[in-house]
Amino acid sequence: MTAIDQIRPTDSCLHVTWDDGIESWYPWLWLRDHAHDEATIHPITQQRKLETATLPADLRADSATTDDRVARIHWQGNTEVSEVPVDFLHRFRLPAPARIAAAPRPVLWDGAAIAEAPLQIRYEHVMDSSEGVHQWLSIVAAYGFALVTGTPATAAATEDLIRRVGYVRETIFGGFWQFTDDLSKADLAYTTTHLSSHTDGTYSHDAPGLQMLHCLHFDGTGGESTLVDGFKIAEVLRATEPKLFEVLSTVAIPGQYIGDGSHLMSARPVFHHDHNGTLVQVSYNNSDRAPFLLPPDDMARLYSALRSFDKLANSPTMQWRQVLRPGTALLFDNWRALHGRHAYAGQRTMCGAYLNHEDFESRLRTAG
Ligand code: OGA
Ligand code: ZN
Repeated sequence: MTAIDQIRPTDSCLHVTWDDGIESWYPWLWLRDHAHDEATIHPITQQRKLETATLPADLRADSATTDDRVARIHWQGNTEVSEVPVDFLHRFRLPAPARIAAAPRPVLWDGAAIAEAPLQIRYEHVMDSSEGVHQWLSIVAAYGFALVTGTPATAAATEDLIRRVGYVRETIFGGFWQFTDDLSKADLAYTTTHLSSHTDGTYSHDAPGLQMLHCLHFDGTGGESTLVDGFKIAEVLRATEPKLFEVLSTVAIPGQYIGDGSHLMSARPVFHHDHNGTLVQVSYNNSDRAPFLLPPDDMARLYSALRSFDKLANSPTMQWRQVLRPGTALLFDNWRALHGRHAYAGQRTMCGAYLNHEDFESRLRTAG
C-alpha cells in the first residue's frame, strides 16, 4: 500500500502527500468526526457516540504527527489528541460521493453471452461453507441470477437454502411460499397463463430485492422460465434510443396490487439511478401498472418507450430460458433481472421466497 510521504496542517485541512504523488485534503471537522477512540465510536457497535453537531465550526489543529499506522491530531485550545489510522485515511484519499455498492460489479449479458456464463453452484457447497455462500452470491451479483443444483426437492430444504442469505421477507404472499395454479392469491403467477418479462413488487416502495424459485414438482408441458438482464436493456436503450431511455429514467410509473384485502401502490421510473448516476434498480410489470394519464405528448413518448423496452425484454435473443425442474433452485436479483414463464398445462408446484436487497448485499460483504 502507498504510504504517507508528508503531512502538513493548513487552516482548514490536514494536507497529506502520499508516496505515489497523490495529494489529499481532510477537513478538520471530518478528522474529528472520524477519530477512532471509544468516546467517538463505540468499539463494539461501531456507532458514532460523538455529537458531531456540537463541534465548533472553526475547529482547528495546532499540529499533526504520523507514523506508518496512525495520524495524531493535536487540537487547538485544548490538550485533546485524536487518532485516525493511516489505512482509514488511505480509504478516503480521493473525495467522492458516498459509494455503497458491494462487489463484484454486474457483468451485462444477452442470450448468447449468458449461455457461456458459470451460473451453477452445488447445494452442499452453499450449505456447508461460508465460502460457498460467497461464491453463490457473487454469481448473483455478477449476472443477476444463479442456479443451485442438487437442491433436495422439498420446501424445507429450499427454505434452509434461502436462509443462508438472510431472513425471509414477509409480504402479502406470506413468508416462505408454496404455490400452484389455484388463484389462492390475486396474482397471475397463481395461474397457468403466460407471464411476460416482469419484476415483482412494482406496487411496493421497497420492491423485493431477491427472489428464489424452486420447482418441487412438474408433470406437464410448456412452462419455460425466462430471465432477461434489465441492466443490459438499459445499456442498449441508452445507446440506441437516448430520448426513450431518458423517459424511462424520469417518468414515475405507478404499480398496484388489489386483492386479499390489500390495495398497495407505489410509483417509480423503470430505470432508477442513485446519486452517482449509477443504475441501481429496474422496475417493470405491465400487468401491475396502475392507471394514470399524462398530457398527450408525454403519454405518446411513454408508450413508445415502453414498447421499445418490452420488445427487448421479451426478445428470445436477449433471454436466458429453461424449464425449471425439481433439484435446481433459482435465485435472482429482482432489482435487475426480469423474469417470466411461458403458459403450461399439467401439474406444477413451486416454492420460494423473497429477500431484501440490503440483506443480500450484507451477506455478500460478510460471507467468505
Ligand atoms: C412469480 C412468478 C413465475 C413462475 O412468482 O413472481 O413470476 O415460474 N412466477 O411461476
Ligand atoms: Zn413474478
